[in-house]
Amino acid sequence: MKIQWYPGHMAKAKRSIRNDLQLVDLVIELLDSRCPESTRNPDIDSFSRDKARIMLLNKADLADRETTRAFSDYFRAKGFYSMEIDARSTASLKRLSALIDEACAPIVERNRRRGIQTPILRAMVLGIPNVGKSTFINSFVGKSVARTGNKPGVTRGNQWIKLNPHVQLLDTPGITWPKFEREIVGMNLAIIGSINDQILNIDELVFYLIKYLVRYYPEALVRRYGESLRGMEEALPVFEEIARRRGCMKKGGNPDYTKTARLVLDDFRSGRLGSITLEQPMHDLDALKPTGEQDA
Ligand code: G4P
Repeated sequence: MKIQWYPGHMAKAKRSIRNDLQLVDLVIELLDSRCPESTRNPDIDSFSRDKARIMLLNKADLADRETTRAFSDYFRAKGFYSMEIDARSTASLKRLSALIDEACAPIVERNRRRGIQTPILRAMVLGIPNVGKSTFINSFVGKSVARTGNKPGVTRGNQWIKLNPHVQLLDTPGITWPKFEREIVGMNLAIIGSINDQILNIDELVFYLIKYLVRYYPEALVRRYGESLRGMEEALPVFEEIARRRGCMKKGGNPDYTKTARLVLDDFRSGRLGSITLEQPMHDLDALKPTGEQDA
């Protein structure tokens, strides 16, 4: 299933992000810990070459803890600053403020050598839809949200938000990019809920997810849907067994695939299936396909 989702308003938002990037020292990119590589917008790399960069691995509570840690190390090895968070909690606010200071230290130092003070650090917060940007802004900025007035050069409607006395954030709309180079990226984004469900074939998507789970997280399936799934190696019988166990049957006794697919997808997205990551760092994403098949 080839998935693309880049509605017109995103192209417009991308232009304003590109414009506003000139105003910031730091780019904070929110990623989904369940598939950090797939949720990285390749356009951002090309726009932000001279900026300090932080990769925030959000929804860490929903992902495989060890793999998230491995992703953090992987990003650090690539020269980014990185941290795992659960945007619904403020527990890591102090650590984040310290990380921002650390990431921006070379900029502050460069300015100092030129005789320029840097009383305020400006950061842009970027991320694809549903990655948790609003949650992040709300909990990390909290009640102290101080929306300063529009500044010259900032796209109308975008506003600076005070994180602390010396850091201001610029929130941006969630965007994807024009073409997902690999089919698996579109699938992962669809599974985590970053693509409008209405354009998706949910049955096919969940068939793919079940194939992945059968291969990499069979225990999670057994825990959630019962012992009768133990040892099952093919996705279709697993799909049908889940339908039977959950009473998702049509009149006449056939499985209702769409109803079952919806149930499995909701279980995955909400974390009821357990802490699951859809990709591994330093691996070719395509090698992780459940059947090992390659994109055409
Ligand atoms: P966006 O602005 O990037 O589009 O995302 P938003 O903050 O609206 O978050 C999308 C969904 O992800 C929300 O759930 C939010 O609660 C959830 N979320 C954000 N960060 C985390 C996290 O670190 N862990 C977990 N488990 N969930 C997170 P929702 O069901 O769409 O809305 P709600 O019912 O929670 O309000």
